[in-house]
Amino acid sequence: MAAIHLLCFFIFSAGVHVISSETDPRDVVALRALKDSWQNTPPSWEKSDDPCGAPWEGVTCINSRVTSLDLSLNTGLKGPIPPQLGDLKKLHMLLLSGCSFTGSIPSELGNLVELSFLDVSSNSLTGQIPPSLGNISGLYLLDLSDNQMTGSLPVSNSITPGLDLLKNAKHFHLYDNQFSGTIPATLLSADMTLIHLFLDGNQLVGTIPSTIGLVQTLQMM
Ligand SMILES: *[C@@H]1O[C@H](CO)[C@@H](O)[C@H](O)[C@H]1NC(C)=O
Repeated sequence: MAAIHLLCFFIFSAGVHVISSETDPRDVVALRALKDSWQNTPPSWEKSDDPCGAPWEGVTCINSRVTSLDLSLNTGLKGPIPPQLGDLKKLHMLLLSGCSFTGSIPSELGNLVELSFLDVSSNSLTGQIPPSLGNISGLYLLDLSDNQMTGSLPVSNSITPGLDLLKNAKHFHLYDNQFSGTIPATLLSADMTLIHLFLDGNQLVGTIPSTIGLVQTLQMM
């Protein structure tokens, strides 16, 4: 009896899901949080409650999950980057370059473990680089350039992750911010695959660590 009851529940809930939305409910909740935090989101974001099915501009989905958010070069788009963005667990690309975002990068973005491209360049972001970004092991591009971010470049220790863990990253574009302190020697190691390491236009001090010589893939610094 309980089994039949359970079966009916599953059929019912599956049916409701298909009728109401092509978007995974978890992603709907997260995208609504973005819409509520931001000003001047695209008009299509007002017209539907199903960001994958009746598509929201800038949102790409695969199998009901949001895989890409691309709202670049939209200077009217403003507001903070809400922590709920970290709930879009299947996100592969986050491209928010050249908008007018303010506030700091929430540490919850470190939960986006499938992310390959993280580009929030040319906004008005402040605050520090969350060490949690070091948890995004497949990250290919980290572009924070042309913001007003501060603090030191985070490296891992026994308690927290750091940028040194991003062994698959090809691009660290961190130029034109207000990063300070020295370039940590442990940021660079032989198992990194960086091609571009751009740190210019900051307030970094000291020498370039000799560990730079370990990064065989490096082409430009
Ligand atoms: C990084 O990932 C590990 C393993 O999943 C987790 O235990 C830890 O809390 C994460 N750290 C941060 C700062 O997100």
